[in-house]
Amino acid sequence: MTTPTLRPEPKRLFIKTYGCQMNVYDSERMRDVLRPLGYQPVDGPETADLVVLNTCHIREKATEKVYSELGQIKKMKEASGGKMTIAVAGCVAQAEGAEIMRRQPAVDLVLGPQAYHKLPEMVARASRATGDRLETEFETLEKFDALPKQREADGPAAFLSVQEGCDKFCTFCVVPYTRGAELSRPVDDIVVEARSLAAQGVRDISLLGQNVNAWHGAAPKLEGGGEWGLGQLARHLSKIGGIDRIRYTTSHPRDMDDDLIAAHGEVPELMPFLHLPVQSGSDRILKAMNRGHTAEHYLDIMRRMRDARPDMALASDFIVGFPGESDQDFEDTMNLVREVGYAIAYSFKYSPRPGTPAADMFSHVPEEVKDERLQRLQTLLKQQQTEFNASKVGETLPVLVTGKGKMEGQAHGRSPWMQAVHFDAPESLVGQIVDVKIVGSTMSSLTGEYAHVVEAA
Ligand code: 5AD
Ligand code: SF4
Repeated sequence: MTTPTLRPEPKRLFIKTYGCQMNVYDSERMRDVLRPLGYQPVDGPETADLVVLNTCHIREKATEKVYSELGQIKKMKEASGGKMTIAVAGCVAQAEGAEIMRRQPAVDLVLGPQAYHKLPEMVARASRATGDRLETEFETLEKFDALPKQREADGPAAFLSVQEGCDKFCTFCVVPYTRGAELSRPVDDIVVEARSLAAQGVRDISLLGQNVNAWHGAAPKLEGGGEWGLGQLARHLSKIGGIDRIRYTTSHPRDMDDDLIAAHGEVPELMPFLHLPVQSGSDRILKAMNRGHTAEHYLDIMRRMRDARPDMALASDFIVGFPGESDQDFEDTMNLVREVGYAIAYSFKYSPRPGTPAADMFSHVPEEVKDERLQRLQTLLKQQQTEFNASKVGETLPVLVTGKGKMEGQAHGRSPWMQAVHFDAPESLVGQIVDVKIVGSTMSSLTGEYAHVVEAA
């Protein structure tokens, strides 16, 4: 799936620079980081969508000049119907901080000289607050945009989109700019679609969202009432006749709440497989990534999940070679992988996406170091994946038959942990959950012998 490059509506950017050469340089950088959001420089503030005053604090008079300039720009903002965004950067911003917004409420953003890398995030947030959806020229690479789209049921397993967008602004990632703010689909819509899928024979539903566990919805008329999180939604969907398996992807550690963890212990339909990306095992790198969690926080979620559901298997995404990643940071990632033990994981070399804060960071890791780290990480992950699959040999697993195999009399299916299972069985079993005794395994699949149909729960 390739998402076409979006051609943004050009937005007009006016930056007024006061003071020293340092400010002139910073204004250039601000222009650079805003370009991927569609901002092009113009010569005056009158019609600008974004006005930045890059200020100087050297004399009292200079500060007062900024306030009087802001008074003028406020009038232009009013004339634009409030559409203009006003930002104050530089040393006055540093020195006066929130005081600026108090003295001149027309100002939307204040950012000190250390915060320029946050400008795209701040502008994206400010324009969302006015209901504007930024169209950016970040091209979304296939591998980073791997979420399957919702589709008509064409088999017993289907996706159901429940949430879109992302407010997390990880410093390496374009999604918050390209996909907009987090938005949850209403409960009623989801239930209607789930019922319709069930009526079409779907038994395994994957709830989809960029930050699926940030999903929340008001359900005043349904059991429990009030505001639901994903755990409560799963409890509700599990009662729909025909829905035997529920999954959700992709989750963020920051949104993993107690109720969702508890639901895993209570709802057998919630499958014991969780894709919970961690990206790195180093707290220093997690901080630079703006992930908002530590390695310990992640490990704690994993332990609590396994307490609730002992057969819980984990999947993750990793980035190696994030700017500033030292040998020790990378070893922290390897140690985290050893501690968790993954069923499957996706790993990438960090690649700078122009306009994201990380692209502007210093100490980029040399390509050959990234290559070497990726190879070591992938060797470990493949070994874990192979071991995880092998651990099922000898067990009898409930397998959802998803289709017929290449040869007559062959079928394939899916285990509770998303493993592909190949076995001999008649085509008439497609759509049923059957017991399969696992007799062999590879890194990517299991082979088994069909025993009998499992009664629906
Ligand atoms: N460089 C490398 N990997 C990235 N991802 C997202 N952005 C980047 C980037 N700039 C990876 C993350 C994410 C997955 C979908 O893609 O691991 O979880
Ligand atoms: Fe990108 Fe995921 Fe981070 Fe959102 S949470 S910014 S989608 S990596």
